[in-house]
Amino acid sequence: MALFLMTDPTHYEVCYQINPWMKPATWRDERDACQAAAKRASAELRAALKAAGAQVETVEAARGLPDLVFPANAAVVLDGKVLLARFRHPERQGEEAIFRSAFCRLKTRGVVQDVIDLPEGLFHEGAGDAIWDLGRQLFWAGYGPRSSRGALAVLQSVFGREIVPLELASDRYYHLDTCFCPLSGGEVLYYPAAFTEAALAAIRARVPDDLRIEATDEDAAAFCVNAVNLDRTIIMAKAPPALKSRLEGRGYQVVEVDLSPFILSGGAAYCMTLRLDRTSVPQASAIAAE
Ligand code: ARG
Repeated sequence: MALFLMTDPTHYEVCYQINPWMKPATWRDERDACQAAAKRASAELRAALKAAGAQVETVEAARGLPDLVFPANAAVVLDGKVLLARFRHPERQGEEAIFRSAFCRLKTRGVVQDVIDLPEGLFHEGAGDAIWDLGRQLFWAGYGPRSSRGALAVLQSVFGREIVPLELASDRYYHLDTCFCPLSGGEVLYYPAAFTEAALAAIRARVPDDLRIEATDEDAAAFCVNAVNLDRTIIMAKAPPALKSRLEGRGYQVVEVDLSPFILSGGAAYCMTLRLDRTSVPQASAIAAE
């Protein structure tokens, strides 16, 4: 059974701006409504994961660390190994200690086996910038706005897997998970404008034409590329109808959740979760995800 980490959204808010989507003024103006909507949205996402057959572990909320609700950025997890993140922005660096203790507790319980530090001087924002592609047996690795290029060598040595570096070209799509989502049938849903020419060439070299699904400006801005795929189910923010039918046409079931309070911080379904049981080899007993 798939196992995800999520964070209690009690202390979630938008009170600083470290990406162009973040709107502290909008949040301030409608604080109570936004807070209530965020709690509902997080609960709905959790329910959607459970309905798709997954289990969810929860990290407690911490006052003053509102972006703790995006655990995809906490670490890269594969085969029980946890490579802890280091955040580029001081606003999020306080999350590192909290996630470290959460992973150490998970290790005590045997949920993960190894908790590994990133060497000093490098930034890496976890599964937001390192997406495991089970079918192709590689990590797609975003870098530029948040994660350092140099951190990719560490990914390589910790996990011993092929790493495909993808340079991100835009500060609006600052994590790879905002613009790139491999699907269980081998397709890749991605937003070409977010990548440099070299990154696009690397994608095209590995993903044939008929498996590349290009997201439109509207799809990307609705944070629909930031999706959780479990077998034939794709859980995402409210989707433009054309995207939904394109995915349904390929045999996927699209489950939409209104995640607008989190889009106000520049995140949605994928980054509000972190898959803890991801393995490099397909597990017969598990849902064949990604
Ligand atoms: N406000 C958060 C930040 O800018 C949002 C993070 C969303 N995470 C993601 N993996 N896309 O860091």
